[in-house]
This record gives sequence, structure tokens and C-alpha cells, in this order.
Amino acid sequence: MLSEQFLQELKLRNDIEGVISSYTPVKRRGRNLVCLCPFHNEKTPSFTIYPENQSFYCFGCGAGGDVITFVRRAENLEYIEAVKFLADRAGLAMPEDGYDDRTAKLKARVLEINRETARFYFSCLMSPAGRQALEYLRGRGLSDSTIRRFGLGYAPDSWDMTLRHLLSKGFSREELAAACIAVQSSRNKDRYFDQFRGRVMFPIIDIRGNVIAFGGRIMGEGGPKYLNSPDTPVFKKSRNLFALNFAKSTKENRLILAEGYMDVVALHQGGFGNAVATLGTALTGEQARMIAQYADTVVIAYDSDGAGQTATKRAINIFGEIGLKVKVLSMTGAKDPDEYIKKYGAQRFKLLLDGSSGAMDFEIAKLKAKYDLETDEGKVGYLKEFVAFMAGIRNEIERDVYVSRTAEELRVEKSTLLLQISHIIRQRARSAEKKQARDLSTFAVDPKDRLDPERSRNIRAALAEERLIAILFKNPDYREHILAQIAPEEFVTAFNRQVFAFMCGRLKEEKSLDMISLSAAFDEAQMSRISGILAAASGQNFTRAEADDYIKVIKEQAGQKTPRELAEMDEEQLKQYISGLVGKKPKSTL
Ligand code: GTP
Ligand code: MN
Repeated sequence: MLSEQFLQELKLRNDIEGVISSYTPVKRRGRNLVCLCPFHNEKTPSFTIYPENQSFYCFGCGAGGDVITFVRRAENLEYIEAVKFLADRAGLAMPEDGYDDRTAKLKARVLEINRETARFYFSCLMSPAGRQALEYLRGRGLSDSTIRRFGLGYAPDSWDMTLRHLLSKGFSREELAAACIAVQSSRNKDRYFDQFRGRVMFPIIDIRGNVIAFGGRIMGEGGPKYLNSPDTPVFKKSRNLFALNFAKSTKENRLILAEGYMDVVALHQGGFGNAVATLGTALTGEQARMIAQYADTVVIAYDSDGAGQTATKRAINIFGEIGLKVKVLSMTGAKDPDEYIKKYGAQRFKLLLDGSSGAMDFEIAKLKAKYDLETDEGKVGYLKEFVAFMAGIRNEIERDVYVSRTAEELRVEKSTLLLQISHIIRQRARSAEKKQARDLSTFAVDPKDRLDPERSRNIRAALAEERLIAILFKNPDYREHILAQIAPEEFVTAFNRQVFAFMCGRLKEEKSLDMISLSAAFDEAQMSRISGILAAASGQNFTRAEADDYIKVIKEQAGQKTPRELAEMDEEQLKQYISGLVGKKPKSTL
């Protein structure tokens, strides 16, 4: 456990506003600050920072917490690592006894393992055993210098050659399994074998130059074609991009997003050092935001098949949401950039690249293809979708270009289309406003609320409990007044009860009640909920009388026991229950 004093010092030296603004620009709004949420995609800020209690809450995605919770999410760290991160940032030394650095040490070991493994695979590729693999790569048009630059390799076709090599370097079986280089046999727990066997290997390197994972391709036919590292302590598929380590330092302000490793390697060899790829999964918002950090335009160069086109559409939406300019490359005569370059050469690919159409043209063409524009029915259907699509475009000039063009093409009045579009825009703004108002007063009632399953069934009590939690948090001096009337045990919903009990416990021990002490006791999801509770009551002042009202509501709701619950009570419980009903103060246990 970290000492109280250390946590308080940490909190003082890491103002939440300062920490968050080093990730994303923040704007003042009244007494609070707002910014675009770093944890989900949005165009208008719903992420709010509350300096008064050093918390944040996003009304869009429900993420919330204190400065430690923020760093945990933003940097993907365990609690203690996030504390270390903030201590380093503020020039504070970690207390010796409090810091369990096992996780940090394991991460460092896994990175060493990966580096050594990449070296080993490369040397295998260059050895006689790797002859076939080297021929395979050369056969696919890769030069030796490309192979070297990407550190490609060969995982020997053996159950334990890689394993034995790494053991000889001093790594343990458990460490190798944590790195997902070795796999523990499910039948015999003492047996380990190589994860990658008989494959051409692509090391995945992060922007700091660490080898964080591998992708391995079989040579020739068969399946699965690729085997990728699963997530490990140092690797998250959804947060990395292949070849970003190279692409980030090109001077271009656009990046090319391809589907496969081979495409990226071929593109780099062809002179397009600004190509990256996702790691065998669909593009995530996190990856899109990473791309946006290095470029203002992205050119999507996915495969020309149906799957590639569907993925293109998805990616356009994701990039659109964060306001990145998107272009789409349309290839004919080849299935992917790798094949295109091999067939037609890099120069022709460059022409394709420079001529790549805007994402808008791509979308409109897709829309059009769905309808038969020769018929009135088809025209109407198309125009309906067209205006809805246009309503999502923020830039008026851009909108005007497409509306004019379509009006002319289909011979309809441009003003009619514009009228419809502004109607939809107003409608959407209204429902967005309503939604935020709803979120502000309470979170939506979610019958599948896993954090507090009783909440939706006892919503009246839960809301009162949440208010009472916020009141006590803001006014610790009300403690005696409140506790004279209600004990945590009387709370109806389990999560609120737990939070309230924790708060009462702190106050009883004369400790401060703040976000940083809560985040030492509650996990990320719980912190989000607590921040939401506080955010809903932000900017309001509460009197003791109001606290009394909420207490009354909780008691009323708690009083409504079902006959079955009554039957299950023991004598003492029943007595307490009845005394509660006749309005006597129950004995407080605190
Ligand atoms: P080549 O067929 O060698 O040209 O590969 P490619 O790089 O063009 O890959 P492809 O377009 O077939 O697939 C795109 C990406 O999806 C690959 O780079 C892999 O990351 C991933 N992928 C493809 N096949 C598999 C598979 O069988 N399993 C897994 N896990 N991922 C795959
Ligand atoms: Mn390919």
C-alpha cells in the first residue's frame, strides 16, 4: 500500500488539467474544462475536466476517474505503473516499500526476449535451414536490403529450436510463455513448444523501436496463412500499426493505410515509406488517432475485393469521426498494392496515389450503386440517403459542391435538397442536446448494468443514493448529520453501498475524501461510475435538508421488502426493519 502522504503529494504535483492537456488540447467552459475525448471518437467535446475535485468524466463514453485512472487508460498501465508514471513526471521518488515493480520488470524481460527472438529468426533466415524461406521472400520480389531493413526472419520448422535457443540465453519457460514465443502444452504442463514454426516472420516494432510482437506467414498454400502474436504485456493489437516506426519519420503529411504486411513491405521498397497496416484486425479508433498524430491525410489502399471495400467504408467512417482527410485508392487489375506494384511498377502506383479520389466520391458512388436511378423510385431512395449523408458533413462549402453536382445530375432543385439537409441537421442537433441533458441528470437506465445490477430495478433509490454520495463528497462536514440518519447497510444497491461505506470509513478515520484515495480502492470501471455520479451533481450546492430528502427516499425504497424477503429475515433483521418502518433511527454501526 502506498502511504497517504505520498498519494497526496502525487496529487498536488499532478494537476489533472495539466496532465490531460499534455495529451489533448483543452478549452475552458465555465468553471470546468472540456476537450475531445481521447478514449472514443467524437466531433464535439463531451469530455469534461472538473478542477474542483480533480476528476474527469466523458458524457459520450462514460469514462471517468481521477488523474491516475486517466493515465492508466491513456498509457494502458496497471495502477502501480500509472502511479510510477506520474511520480516520474513530477520528479517524485517512488517509496521503496510501496512499489511492486514486477509488472515493469516482466515487460522489460518480454521486450528483451522479443529482440533476441527477432535476431534469432533473422539469423535462421540467413542460414542454410532458411534457404527456402529466403527464396520465398526473394521470389515475392523483396530485395535483400528490404529484408534486412524490416528485420524479416524465419522461424525454424521444429517444435523447440527457438525455445532452446532462448533458454540458452537465460530466459525462463514462464517468461517465454508470457512473451507468447513459447506455448505451454495443455496436456502436459511441463512441456513447452515454439509458437511459430516453419514460417516467414515479420517483427512488429513500435515507435520507440521495441520489437513488440510477430506476424508469421506460411510459405505457399495451407492455413492459417498468418499467425500473429496475441496480446501480451507489451503488445496490444488495437493500439499499434505495422511500420509506423518507419512511416512516422517521413516528411509527408499523408500516410497510406494498407491491409497486409506484404503490402507495406512492398510499398516501402517501392519508395512509399509512409505506408502502414493494421495488425490483422479491422481498424480501431485508437489506430485512427495514431495516424492523425502523424498526418493530416490518410490514403486507404485496401484490397480491391469485396472484403477490402467493406473495410474501406468502415475506415472512412472512423477517420471521418476524428476529422482526418481521407482519400481512397481505387485499384483495377490487381488485388492489392503489393500485386499492383509488381505488375505495373511503382511509378504507376504513384499516379494512382496522386489521383486517388476523395472519400466523398467513394461514398457517393457506393450509394448510387445501390439504386436504379432510371426509375423514380430509385431516384427518391437515393436522394433520401444522399441528404442524410450530406447532413453529416460539417464543411458547408464541401457540402455545396456535392449538392450542386447531384442536383444537376438528377435534375432536381438544389434548394429543395439544401432545405432537407438543414432540416436533418437541426433534428440531429436537437436529439443530441436531449441526449446530453438526459446523461447529465442521470446515466441511462441500463437493465444489463454489470457494475450495479440492482440499479435498474431500484432506480429511484439508486438515484437518491448517488445524490447522497455526491453530497457527502462535496460536504464532508455533513457526515455526522447524515450518519445519524442512515448507515451504509441501508443502501439498496450494492455498488453505491460499497462506495458510501468506503467514504464513511475514510471520514471516520479523519482521512481526506478525494478522488485519488478512491482510485486506490476502486478499479477503472468503478471509478468511471463514481466520476459520473459526481459529474451529475457538479456545480450544485446542497443543504442538509436536501440530504434529508434523499435519505428519506432511500429508506422508503429500502423499506419495500417483498414477502419472500421478509420471510428470509432473521429475528434481529426483522426488528430493525420494523423499527425503521415506524420512523425510529436504526442503530448506526459506524
Ligand atoms: P500475402 O497473401 O502474403 O500477400 O499477404 P498480405 O500481407 O497481402 O495479407 P492479406 O491481404 O491476405 O491479409 C491482410 C492481413 O490480414 C495480413 O497481413 C495479416 O495481418 C492478416 N491475416 C491474413 N490472413 C490471416 C490469417 O489466416 N490469420 C490471421 N490471424 N491473420 C491473417
Ligand atoms: Mn497480398
